[in-house]
Amino acid sequence: MHNLEEFLGDHRPETALVLGSGLGNLIDAVEIVSRAPYSELSDFDAGNVSGHGGELISGHIGSHPVLVLSGRVHYYEQGDPAAMRKPLEALKRVGVNRIVLTNSAGSLDPDAGPGSIMQIVDHINFSGTNPLIGEPTDGRFVGLTSAYDQELQNHFSVAAQEMGIQLHKGVYMWFSGPSFETPAEINMARLMGADAVGMSTVPEVILARFLGMEVAAFSVITNYAAGMTGNELGHEETKENAPKGGAVLSELISAVLRKGF
Ligand code: HPA
Repeated sequence: MHNLEEFLGDHRPETALVLGSGLGNLIDAVEIVSRAPYSELSDFDAGNVSGHGGELISGHIGSHPVLVLSGRVHYYEQGDPAAMRKPLEALKRVGVNRIVLTNSAGSLDPDAGPGSIMQIVDHINFSGTNPLIGEPTDGRFVGLTSAYDQELQNHFSVAAQEMGIQLHKGVYMWFSGPSFETPAEINMARLMGADAVGMSTVPEVILARFLGMEVAAFSVITNYAAGMTGNELGHEETKENAPKGGAVLSELISAVLRKGF
């Protein structure tokens, strides 16, 4: 069992990437310095990353040092919205000040079908919970008016344009999962202003802002949301479609990191 400092040695990345399930192909862009399953890392203590076999990778994309969290704990696994707090605190402790979060999501936008990618510009926390419940300090009153860093977002928008990648922009709505939404819930989500729905990321955004990190976040669209096509939704579809948009998102993220900030 190692703590994060022991795992990193002299390597001190200031940028971390969190890869959602099925988005592991970003790892191919990393020149790996070291890797370890979360189960060997005391700060990750995430024996409960069920079905997502979490792994930490440190390395470089181009000359940019990065730490890649492949897999995350979801709220729906144990009902703990702060499940990612310990790993994110460890990242902060070693000097990570910028985090790029990725997920798979269902799209409410007919123009953003499976395989497309969306930059999350804002979110709706529809879970009824919050990872900072129980935090005793005034730090818990985190402002989320600019949760998604504008300057960081611009790096990705500009690169997408240069690369001819269509990068949708939209609002991500966090449902607790693990069941998918109903068509009625999706109609509600649309009325409330959502462009995509998913079961992750929002708690990490709140925690990262609490810790003072800059945040950017992206959804890989794996399906149209419930009721939009008549198809039943399932995890198979998510896993099958995630690598399609995942490959494009990987290209975009690695191009931005290669350029540097
Ligand atoms: N809903 C919630 N989470 C998801 C979806 C969805 O349609 N697709 C991928 N993750």
